[in-house]
Amino acid sequence: MPSILVFAGSWRPGSMNTRLATLIAGNLEAAGAQVTQISLGDYPLPLIDARAYESEPPEEARKLAELVVAHDALFIASPEYNAGYPPALKNALDWVSIARKGGPALRDKVVAIGGASAGSLGTYRCLTQLRTVLELGFGALVIPEMLAVSGADKGYGADGDLADKRIAGMRDRLVARLVKVAGLAP
Ligand SMILES: Cc1cc2nc3c(=O)[nH]c(=O)nc-3n(C[C@H](O)[C@H](O)[C@H](O)COP(=O)(O)O)c2cc1C
Repeated sequence: MPSILVFAGSWRPGSMNTRLATLIAGNLEAAGAQVTQISLGDYPLPLIDARAYESEPPEEARKLAELVVAHDALFIASPEYNAGYPPALKNALDWVSIARKGGPALRDKVVAIGGASAGSLGTYRCLTQLRTVLELGFGALVIPEMLAVSGADKGYGADGDLADKRIAGMRDRLVARLVKVAGLAP
């Protein structure tokens, strides 16, 4: 059973991305994965700079990095801020990248990304940037499917699932691929 770590790039009360992360966590479990969902808000971190290389990382950074290493794959739900991803998410990933003595935690890690926004592009612009950083900066393996949930403030049906069939179809493809590829992890 592949293990998948799920979190959002926002921990704001009422966060649309936390809601998306929770939905995907349930979908991944239904597809046979063992899921751990966390909130980055439980891992408060200072803004990183190069002094991080010269001192011990904060305990929260170490815990986050060990969680990443302990799972076969990740799903990250990211808000879009001015066409990019939020600085708090990048800060957390930067800390994760250097917090382990055993090497960068995200290297070779399978990652799926998505995001929720009330806008019509549904975080797509932020996801293209997040993909680049995860792949080129962190050495992660990002699966092709990206889940951009547009109109997310009104995007859910009475059953709690994504109302738009096209977006739900993309979700299904993302979940299927993530569980399959995570299951191949050594
Ligand atoms: C500084 C800032 C910039 C934003 N820029 C965008 C944007 O470029 N595109 C977009 O769709 N939403 C943008 N938003 C709106 C966010 O999508 C919205 O605040 C969303 O609720 C954030 O995700 P969350 O609900 O998970 O916290 C921006 C919000 C902030 C605070």
